[in-house]
Amino acid sequence: MDTHQPYTVPDITIRKNEGLQHAADYTMPQPLERYTNDDHAVWKLLYERQAALLPGRACDEFLQGMVGLGMDLGRVPSFEQLNHCLMSATGWQVVAVHGLIPDEIFFEHLAHRRFPVTWWLRERHQIDYLQEPDIFHDLFGHVPLLMNPVFADYLQAYGAGGMKAKRLGVLPMLARLYWYTVEFGLLQTEQGLRIYGAGILSSKSESIYSLESASPNRVGFDLERIMRTRYRIDTFQKTYFVINNFQQLFNATTPDFTPIYQSLMGLPVLGAGDLAPMDQVIQCGNREGWSDTEDV
Ligand code: PHE
Ligand code: CO
Repeated sequence: MDTHQPYTVPDITIRKNEGLQHAADYTMPQPLERYTNDDHAVWKLLYERQAALLPGRACDEFLQGMVGLGMDLGRVPSFEQLNHCLMSATGWQVVAVHGLIPDEIFFEHLAHRRFPVTWWLRERHQIDYLQEPDIFHDLFGHVPLLMNPVFADYLQAYGAGGMKAKRLGVLPMLARLYWYTVEFGLLQTEQGLRIYGAGILSSKSESIYSLESASPNRVGFDLERIMRTRYRIDTFQKTYFVINNFQQLFNATTPDFTPIYQSLMGLPVLGAGDLAPMDQVIQCGNREGWSDTEDV
C-alpha cells in the first residue's frame, strides 16, 4: 500500500507489464527474462549508492537484514533465492505483482506473511525519483526488515488489521499508521536517530533529509496522534515519528483498534506539518523551504 487515493494505472506500469498476466490474487511469476542489462546496471547503481549511504543512517536491524538477504550480487535479485533466506528467518516470502494492487488483496497477503513486490525497475532517467513503487522501493526498502522477527510480526498484524479497518470504513486512519511507520519511520538509538521506513531507505535524498534537515518535525511515536495526521505523498515528510524500538511499535498496536477508531472519529484531523499539545517533540522543525501557501 503506497497510499492510493483514486487511482489510475501509471503508463510505466502498463508498459512494463504488456503481455503479462496475473492470478486472481494479483501475483505472477517473476518474469526474470524481462530484465535487460540496463536494468541490472541500474539496480547495481541504486544498490551500491544506498549501501554506501546507509551505515550510520539505517537502523541495525535493516542493515543486518540487508546482509542476511544477500541482495548484493550486482543484479536484480531473484525472488526465489531471497525467499529461501526470508522463509527460514521469519516465515515471510515475497511475491511478484504488476504494481499497486487493491487494498484488500494487499492486506490479505500481509496477513499471510507474503509481501507483494512490484517486479519491474525504474529506468535510468528516473534514478532519483519516480512516483510509483518499483522493485527497488519494494524490495530494497521493505524486505530487509522482514528478516527481523518483531517487525515481521508487526507487518502481519497490520495486514489483519487492514482487513478489519476496511470493513469498518476507517482505512484512512490505518493507512496513516502504515505511512508514518513502515514507510517513513525513524528509530531512536543510543547512537542517535536511525531510519527504518522503506520510503526513506529507498531514497538517497530523503535518507539524508529525514535525519539531518532542520525543516521537519520529529515527534515521539503516538498511535492515536498518527492516526489523526494527514500525510504528503508529493514532498519530503513534514513530520517524522520516532519509535524507541520495534517492540514498542508492536505492543502499541496489539490492542483492538475498534474503540480507538470510534473515539478518533470525533476529533479533528491534523495537518502533515502541525504540532499538537500532546506531542513529545524531539525536534520542532523550522519549516524552512515550506511555502506559506502549501497545505501542510
Ligand atoms: N490491533 C489492530 C486492530 O485491532 C491490528 C493492527 C496491528 C493494526 C498492527 C495495525 C498494526 O485493528
Ligand atoms: Co512502500
